[in-house]
Amino acid sequence: MAETMKGLKRTHRCTDLNAANIGETVTVMGWVAKQRNKGGIIFVDLRDRSGILQLIFEEDKCGSEAFAKAEKLRSEFVVAVTGKVCKREGAVNENLKTGEIEVVAEQIRILSEADTPPFPIEENSKTKEEIRLKYRYLDLRRPDLQRNLILRSRICAEVRSFMEQEGFLEIETPILNKSTPEGARDYLVPSRVHPGHFYALPQSPQLFKQLLMCAGYDRYIQIAKCFRDEDLRADRQPEFTQIDMELSFVDEEDVMDVNERLIAHVCEKTVGLKVSLPLPRLSWQEAMDRFGSDKPDTRFGMELVDVSEVVAGCGFGVFTSALESGGSVRGINAKGQADMPRKKIDALVDAAKGNGAKGLAYLSVQEDGSYKSSFAKFMTETELADLVKAMDGQPGDLLLFAADRNKIVWNVLGALRLELGRSLGLIDEDQFNFLWITDFPLLEWSDEENRFMAMHHPFTMPVEEDWQYIDSDPGRVRAKAYDMVLNGVELGGGSVRIHQNDIQEKMFEVLGFSKEDAWERFGFLLSAFKYGVPPHAGLAYGLDRLVMLLVKADSIREVIAFPKVKDASCLMTDAPGTVDQVQLDELEIALNLHDEEAEE
Ligand code: AMO
Ligand code: AMP
Repeated sequence: MAETMKGLKRTHRCTDLNAANIGETVTVMGWVAKQRNKGGIIFVDLRDRSGILQLIFEEDKCGSEAFAKAEKLRSEFVVAVTGKVCKREGAVNENLKTGEIEVVAEQIRILSEADTPPFPIEENSKTKEEIRLKYRYLDLRRPDLQRNLILRSRICAEVRSFMEQEGFLEIETPILNKSTPEGARDYLVPSRVHPGHFYALPQSPQLFKQLLMCAGYDRYIQIAKCFRDEDLRADRQPEFTQIDMELSFVDEEDVMDVNERLIAHVCEKTVGLKVSLPLPRLSWQEAMDRFGSDKPDTRFGMELVDVSEVVAGCGFGVFTSALESGGSVRGINAKGQADMPRKKIDALVDAAKGNGAKGLAYLSVQEDGSYKSSFAKFMTETELADLVKAMDGQPGDLLLFAADRNKIVWNVLGALRLELGRSLGLIDEDQFNFLWITDFPLLEWSDEENRFMAMHHPFTMPVEEDWQYIDSDPGRVRAKAYDMVLNGVELGGGSVRIHQNDIQEKMFEVLGFSKEDAWERFGFLLSAFKYGVPPHAGLAYGLDRLVMLLVKADSIREVIAFPKVKDASCLMTDAPGTVDQVQLDELEIALNLHDEEAEE
């Protein structure tokens, strides 16, 4: 039978102890990380969330009963040990915070025994992620995950304290809502009281934070759970956390200012990273032109070059026909990669095709100045020389070109640049490049929907001088929107909001909502705007992404206690699950499953 803690109090966490405590009698509690029996002496590594402490059991010091207990300790037993802090008899362990000391045990209680865990509880686990996630409560005992979650908690604490100083109020917004349109699919919750009606879980607190501005709260912050039923990737989860804010009587400069200072504060206080302010800014257009991405990784060069003018009228039909249909030809220069094996180039071409390209044209400049190329035969010597010059091609360089609609060219070369940056080791992992992307287009044409969609969301304010084009050339109108990017990841985004009903109604019209639709969906917002609305603006960060980048993890799953996997299921609880017929009956819901699922 396990023993109790009765009469015992923990005095320290494992790594609270150091040489200054030598001579003190202490009580520590935690998990057995390792037990080594060296005959007359037993060493135990005790682990708690702070780290590891070495305990020593010698029969003449702790008595035979305690010694017998120490003998039967196995990994993950939970124990309470009282003993004296001593200088280490053996060599100092430089790798441990507590490496100079050990606790010579006098008493031990076994609070809980443990089965052998399905994988070792250790740093940098080699265990398959599926197994780790199935036993997440064990996985979470590992020091790297503990550090990640501790840092996450500290980041939240620093965000709250900074924002409180800046006059923000933390206000909760509801989880059971009508849908807010952010582009992703909603998670729905059926209503029992209103059969056939559904709540939507919030994709973000967007509308509520705007209503809080209408209500006069002026500066709002929330660390908010958001839900989006979208395809998962390493930096996406179906439920994730935003650091969400909204401010009244401000313009975009005010929002960017407070956010730069927030990020600098949090980075310095939590990981000791000094961020120099102001952050660099790139317009969306410049980001696309130079990096082929609206979230550029600026830790390395290899920028895109627009060679449309250089190749206009050349003999290569792929290039000229792309230009004739309104597209562009752009290239990147993979410096020193002229000898890249054909197989690897073919893999790049395949990847480009995967990103929507019809092909990828290449030209390598040989040491003797001659070219090896997939298209040289279509161009004259002078045309080729001009192209190589425009690309700053030197002997040894590999030039890669895409010709298509701008959107595809950016996409293809942006991805290619990242792939080469990674595989050629051009990225300095110790660099943290924060920057703002500004002047986004307000609208984006969707081929699937055959209409303009809001690039950010429908409440984003257009740039005043562009508004005149809203009917004649909607794609030309820029938005008062800004994203914060860190090392190629979109960390956060926001905008100045529309606070005039006429502009808002026009936006809905351009987006293809009828007036009735718009009032049906957002009537509460449009109505609130009739009763005095301050100019307002805001922003939201992905907290998970911020933590992921600061701890240099590869996935946000490493910084979320209980994450979901690719198919949005939880391997530990098996969510989502089926429910009883009784529950369905109460909700007046009948299932209409496709055959395979029904058979399952
Ligand atoms: P947006 O949709 O850009 O803006 O979201 C803000 C930030 O949230 C993070 N994020 C995610 N993180 C993990 N998993 C996901 N599935 C996921 N989706 C988004 C990103 C992103 O930058 N209401 C607006 C903000 C505003 O205008 O104030 C909004 O939600 O880091
Ligand atoms: P082809 O004449 O189709 O064999 O193409 C000659 C070269 O141009 C090959 O290397 C193709 O991969 C490349 N190519 C084809 N279409 C494009 C395009 N849209 N952009 C860039 N290169 C292309």
